[in-house]
Amino acid sequence: MISPVSDTAERRRPLVVAIDGPAASGKSSTAKWVARELGFRHVDSGALYRAATAATLRVQPDSAVWTEEMVLAAAAAVSLVPSDTTFHARLAGQEAEEELRGGAVTSRVSLVAKMPRVRAWVNDRVRAAAAGHAVVVDGRDMGTAVFPQARVKIFLVADPWERARRRLLQRLERLPTEEEIAEETDALVQRDAKDESQTQRAADAVLVDTTFLTQEDQVARIVALAKTAMR
Ligand code: CDP
Repeated sequence: MISPVSDTAERRRPLVVAIDGPAASGKSSTAKWVARELGFRHVDSGALYRAATAATLRVQPDSAVWTEEMVLAAAAAVSLVPSDTTFHARLAGQEAEEELRGGAVTSRVSLVAKMPRVRAWVNDRVRAAAAGHAVVVDGRDMGTAVFPQARVKIFLVADPWERARRRLLQRLERLPTEEEIAEETDALVQRDAKDESQTQRAADAVLVDTTFLTQEDQVARIVALAKTAMR
């Protein structure tokens, strides 16, 4: 039997699971886990924005004078190295995870992410990493600007207090105090506001609110959606 055209077109859509959402909504850890479950590769677009920011900080610590040209020149030191199930952003060929996740980068990354040519640079790298592989990509605009044809689109949200609590738990490796959570919530809400213009929920994305979900549950839900979409 000949498949209807729409089925054929559906099968030709790239094997991309796009997970977008606001700061600390659990995109990267979820995306990594989903990729492992599906045997796909994970690509973290935020890590590239962070790496470009860290590379620029190394050249010019005063972000008040940064220009798009300066950021793009510094970003030449960034490489994306594949491992079994994900990619690691490196600076001058070296692992720099702590630097990428630190406060100096986090407070400046939204500024860099507003630069159109930096966005084009990140998007090219993400698409190149995805070429020839089934991937789970995470960021702010993966299901809209970068992979509008993605087979599965998820928009992850969670209550800001809960996002702050989880981020601190991960960073401090102990239970955070109420004061620490309140301070982190403020910082997250401020970054959400700065990122508003680059955060896009695709019209066909499935909204997953993880406030009351365990990570295991949210992974299972996304894996199930992906398996259904790939059938
Ligand atoms: O994990 P977290 O939510 O802290 O952020 P991230 O995914 O590491 O992204 C860091 C920053 O990169 C965000 O605050 C955005 O400014 C920017 N970003 C973006 O503009 N577009 C993306 N697709 C991914 C990240």
